Amino acid sequence: MEDSAHRPKTLADFVGQESLKEKLSVYLGASKQRADALDHVLLYGPPGLGKTTLAHIIAYELGVGIRVTSGPAIEKPGDLAAILTNAIDEGDVLFIDEIHRLGKVAEEHLYPAMEDYKIDIILGQGPAARTIRLDLPKFTLVGATTRPGLITAPMRSRFGIIEHFEYYKDDELAHAVQRDAKIMNLVLNDDAAFEIARRSRGTMRIAKRMLRRVRDYVMVAHEDSISLERTKYALDEIGVDNLGLDKRDRAILDSLILKFAGGPVGLDTLATSVAEDRVTLEEIYEPFLIQRGFIQRTARGRIATPNAYKHMGYEYTNPQSPLFDENSDS
Ligand code: ADE
Repeated sequence: MEDSAHRPKTLADFVGQESLKEKLSVYLGASKQRADALDHVLLYGPPGLGKTTLAHIIAYELGVGIRVTSGPAIEKPGDLAAILTNAIDEGDVLFIDEIHRLGKVAEEHLYPAMEDYKIDIILGQGPAARTIRLDLPKFTLVGATTRPGLITAPMRSRFGIIEHFEYYKDDELAHAVQRDAKIMNLVLNDDAAFEIARRSRGTMRIAKRMLRRVRDYVMVAHEDSISLERTKYALDEIGVDNLGLDKRDRAILDSLILKFAGGPVGLDTLATSVAEDRVTLEEIYEPFLIQRGFIQRTARGRIATPNAYKHMGYEYTNPQSPLFDENSDS
């Protein structure tokens, strides 16, 4: 995958997340001094900010191996036992992405593995079944989740290190795409790097993807550097506007404003109106639109803010909205 080729290997090359990096470098240094496995780490935050990348960096900095799996991939308790008994050496990292989607039974098997490095295996069936307890190598579990609220309390309490990822600032995203551009042997003008950053909604994965698409436009135009002008042209063509909203985001706002008079409207109805499923709307599109102040969640449903009307080029008129009064005289 193009993505992973540009992944930074070391903590020093990982751009941004400064407070997290500072703490982590202490924990990594101390664990190496003790020649002991690092405590289990839980990383949480919105998608696309580099949680998986950081898990690889943790293993690299510790000089240990890493096994990668995900909550939904571990279906039976036997799956977990197979990984922990066959694929993990002393000190290795086990990375479980989307750990909030781990099944209940697998989760309960994980507790003694995390705490005492032991796992219970059930042999046989019915009344003749017996349990044997196997010793495991000391390992470090790195769990990642976009939904920390779904991690159960007993699970959370078994992580010694719990860290949150922040959205990136524009200068951090600009720096990171400059780094990628160098790896790809591209000349990226500073103003173009900032334009990409501004339209990336604070998300590293989006910034990196946009750089690759802008590069495509530059190549086809036979230009030898990435200019601001070509960057704007390419991003407009792709349908990412000057605040980073894409076609889907704008379709959602358009529907909310035009079909439902700005709301309030229920999530399911709004989702149906843009042919999207409820979970995608709620987990992928809404957080950004809410965070940037385009949509508000109310007890009666979603409403479009005056900001959304303005950005979409409509005059603000929504007497139904609790926001209307406060804003009508301004
Ligand atoms: N790739 C993913 N996250 C990154 C980051 N924070 N800095 C540089 N490259 C990355």
